[in-house]
Amino acid sequence: MTDVITHEHDVVIIGAGGAGLRAAIEASAAGVSVAMICKSMLGKAHTVMAEGGAAAALANKDHRDSWQTHFRDTMKGGKYLGDWRMAQIHAKEAPDRIRELEQWGAVFDRTPKGLTSQRNFGGHTYPRLAHIGDATGLELIRTLQQKGIHMGMDVFMEFTVRRLFTTDGRVSGCFAYDRNDGALHVFKAKSIVLATGGITRCWEVCSGSWEYTGEGHALAYWAGAEMGDMEFVQFHPTGMIWPPSVKGILVTEGVRGEGGMLTNSEGKRFMFNYIPEMYADEFADTEEESQAWVEEVISGKLATKRRPPELLTRDVVAKAINSERDAGRASEHGGAYLDISWRTEEEVKKKLPGMYHQFMELAAVDITKQPMEVGPTAHYVMGGVKVDPFTQESTVPGLFAAGEVATGLHGANRLGGNSLSDLLVFGRIAGEQAAESSKQMTYFAGIDQSDIDDAIEETLAPLIREGGENPAKVVSDLREMMQNKAGIIRNGDLLLEALKDLDELEQRAAVVSPGGSRIYNPGWHQALELGAMIDVSRMCALAAFRREESRGGHTRDDFPDPDYTYWGKVNSVIKQAEDGSMDIDYVSYPPIPEELEDLLDADDLAKEGRA
Ligand code: FUM
Repeated sequence: MTDVITHEHDVVIIGAGGAGLRAAIEASAAGVSVAMICKSMLGKAHTVMAEGGAAAALANKDHRDSWQTHFRDTMKGGKYLGDWRMAQIHAKEAPDRIRELEQWGAVFDRTPKGLTSQRNFGGHTYPRLAHIGDATGLELIRTLQQKGIHMGMDVFMEFTVRRLFTTDGRVSGCFAYDRNDGALHVFKAKSIVLATGGITRCWEVCSGSWEYTGEGHALAYWAGAEMGDMEFVQFHPTGMIWPPSVKGILVTEGVRGEGGMLTNSEGKRFMFNYIPEMYADEFADTEEESQAWVEEVISGKLATKRRPPELLTRDVVAKAINSERDAGRASEHGGAYLDISWRTEEEVKKKLPGMYHQFMELAAVDITKQPMEVGPTAHYVMGGVKVDPFTQESTVPGLFAAGEVATGLHGANRLGGNSLSDLLVFGRIAGEQAAESSKQMTYFAGIDQSDIDDAIEETLAPLIREGGENPAKVVSDLREMMQNKAGIIRNGDLLLEALKDLDELEQRAAVVSPGGSRIYNPGWHQALELGAMIDVSRMCALAAFRREESRGGHTRDDFPDPDYTYWGKVNSVIKQAEDGSMDIDYVSYPPIPEELEDLLDADDLAKEGRA
């Protein structure tokens, strides 16, 4: 018999980034008992990588902003694949979530009038990102953590969840192990909130922290939940590319929001050549007009000119950098130059202190005097657990999801800054609804002992094996393969190869042997992570292979244009079949009501066959 420690909580929250903490605060406030399980230490969350700000139509910098414009920008930026119901809730509720954070002690930057300052970001019509220098995610986590720990929840740090249990079709608990000592734990729960973030560690060049191996996505899938839009992965245009040891680390979009310009090896601002037709009215196509906009913004006037093309959406900018490289016009180390040095040293250090130190310390580059070198880095997955837009409940009763692990809001491409507001808005809703749902349950459902035994056996299996491969090698091969075959530019042949490679990687993963014991053993942890990494990579490659068009974060060089006939049945849904295989189908959100459709751009809708 292997010892297992059992716990009981009304609501178990898996993940302690912004979405998990916001959910925990809300559930605790509803008076139910809450457990928060973190893979890492509390306060060390990937949310801190959202540096530039949280998008909310506070209209502090430009009175013309409104929830309606934020709604429109989000739908357009997501190339009309997003759930309009979530986009509406998000745009309406984001300002309240920011004000609430301020009441809880978050120290946002201020306008001269003392209002929360807001900066420009890609795809947002007006300056909309409430920020704290370039460390917004960090301050957000600090504030939520401070608030959360006084709410009475139990926190389990450095635990990894391996399985969700269901009883009579409803989620009934989860199985986890303590990464420090390998102790095994069963958490009985009346409802569970998944807030585990994303999957970007499945790519070799990524901005994701080590926790981002996709367990949340995989847990939901293995428990029978429907997964949506898994082909859409966001490559942030600006990650560090030099020196090699720092490749992928995020360079905030705030640099471009503060006037950073992208140039190629010939010193040309190439983004003027990449303005998509759908954005032609909104973006400057000459240096003069772009500069006129910048001058208006810096002098504090309302911008009347078209925005610089560096502020196009991330999908567009990342692909443009890629195209410049393919055309032989890359920067010294294969990316592009990003220059903010035309602003004063004082301004750069005040607005972008983190970037100043990051480049000084990691690359010996003084960004107040020299350009940075940047290139695309896997940053975010738009796909995830399909949820009810009003409750955040997945298709498995009692299982809720919020933040990056859930899908719906961002469609084919997320706007920068919409992730922090997403996790605040939908984290709150998930916490509230999970608590409500737990109150409907008068007892903790029994968990089948054979399900617990299976989870134990599977978790300890790598430690019993001998003579197999090192799991780190399989992880590194998987990441390299996904980078090369399911990366920023894809095609059918490569995606088919990726699917075959994943089958082989799965066979290798099944026989890895990390050696060592259950006491802090990183090799064992990696061996266990592989199952999730392989299944989420497979979801992405399968959905990408099946989507024969290019849209947002999914680009096929064999199908380079959007296929407007997809409209009406546009979102991919993946589910585990009875025999364990991966099924894929297509669905659509309900029709958008006329008053919301009227907020969208008529020309775009006409192309989608809707007007
Ligand atoms: O560029 C950034 O600061 C990242 C923000 C985000 O992903 O929302």
